Amino acid sequence: MYNSVDENSSFEPNISELDMAHLQKLLRRQAQRRLLSENIAILGCGYVGSALADYWQERGHFVTGTTTNWKRVASLSGVVSQVFLMKGDDADAVQSLVEGQDTVVVSVAPTGSQVADEATYETTYLATAKNLVQALKQAPTVKQIIYLSSCSVYGDRQGGWVDETSPISPSEPRSQILSQAEQILLQGASKNQKVCILRLGGIYGPGRELINMFGGLAGMTLPGKGARVINWIHRDDIVGAIEFARLNELEGIYNLVDDSQLTVKEQIKRVCSQYSLPPVYWDDSQLSIQRKSVRVSNQKLKAAGYQLIHPQLLV
Ligand SMILES: NC(=O)c1ccc[n+]([C@@H]2O[C@H](COP(=O)([O-])OP(=O)(O)OC[C@H]3O[C@@H](n4cnc5c(N)ncnc54)[C@H](OP(=O)(O)O)[C@@H]3O)[C@@H](O)[C@H]2O)c1
Repeated sequence: MYNSVDENSSFEPNISELDMAHLQKLLRRQAQRRLLSENIAILGCGYVGSALADYWQERGHFVTGTTTNWKRVASLSGVVSQVFLMKGDDADAVQSLVEGQDTVVVSVAPTGSQVADEATYETTYLATAKNLVQALKQAPTVKQIIYLSSCSVYGDRQGGWVDETSPISPSEPRSQILSQAEQILLQGASKNQKVCILRLGGIYGPGRELINMFGGLAGMTLPGKGARVINWIHRDDIVGAIEFARLNELEGIYNLVDDSQLTVKEQIKRVCSQYSLPPVYWDDSQLSIQRKSVRVSNQKLKAAGYQLIHPQLLV
C-alpha cells in the first residue's frame, strides 16, 4: 500500500513553492496508486487461484495465496507475494490470512488426493465459510469477499433454464453443502464488507482441455441420446470476471458460464471433428445414467457489463 509519497516521483516540491494545485496533483497520484495496488488474499491457490494470483501479481498487487500442501509452497512463490500453508477449517489461520487484506477470494475445492465425500465437502466448504465470516468481524480493511461456487447448486432441471432468481434445489448432498456455504457467506455480508458469489460452470482451459475429457470416448457407442446440457467456463473468463467483480464491487450472486449451452453430444462431436477422431455413436435404446442437465443463464453478469473473452467453447 502507498501510505507515503512515491519516492521515485519526479515531483519534488520545495515547501515554500507548495501550492494547492501541486498538492492536489500529489494526492491524485497517490489515490490512483491506492486503487491500483491492493492487498489481496486467495484462499485456495489451485488451478484457478494460481492463474488469478499470476494476473494480479503482474499488475502490482500484493497477493497472498494459500495451499494445504508444503510441496507446492516453492512453486506458488513464483506467482504470489507470500504463501500461507493452511486449511480453511483452521480459524486462527483464516484470521491471520484476512488481516490487512482489501479483497479475499475463496477458491477452495477438495484436492486430487482427497476423497470428495460429504465429510470432506463440509471441512473444505462449510468450515471455511464459517471461519471466514467470523474472521471478517475483526478485519475491517476487507471490503469484499469473492466466493467461487458452482452451478451444481441448481440441481437437475432436465435441460430447462435457470438464473440467479431460480429457487435452489440441489439434489445431491455435496451440492447442498455448497449451497449452505453460499448462505453462510451471504448472511455475513454487510454494507462495508460485500460478498459476491460466482456460480461457475465446469472449468476448462490450459491443462484442462476438453480433448483430455472427451477424446477417450472417440469411436465408442454410448448409451442414451447425449441430450444432457453441460455449462462450461474458460479459466480466462473466471480470472476476467473475478477482476470485473472486484473493480465494480459486485455483491450478491452471479452465474459464470459461457454462451455455448451445448449438449454433451454436440460437445463431443466438436472435439472429435476438431482432432479428426472417429465419431461417438449414441444408442438411445440403452438407458443412460441420469445426470444433471440444466441451461444456466449468464445474462445478469453481462447486464452488469462483463464481456466474455471466450463466449463459445474452445475445442
Ligand atoms: N472444477 C470445476 O469444474 C468446478 C466447477 C464449478 C465450481 N468450481 C469451484 O471453482 C473453484 C476453483 O476450482 P479449481 O479447479 O481451481 O480447484 P483446485 O485446482 O482443486 O484448487 C483448490 C485449492 O483449494 C485448496 N484446498 C483444498 N482443501 C482445502 C481446505 N480444506 N482449506 C483450504 N484450502 C483447501 C487446494 O490446496 P492445495 O494447494 O493443497 O491443493 C487448492 O489450492 C473451487 O472453489 C471449486 O469449488 C470448480
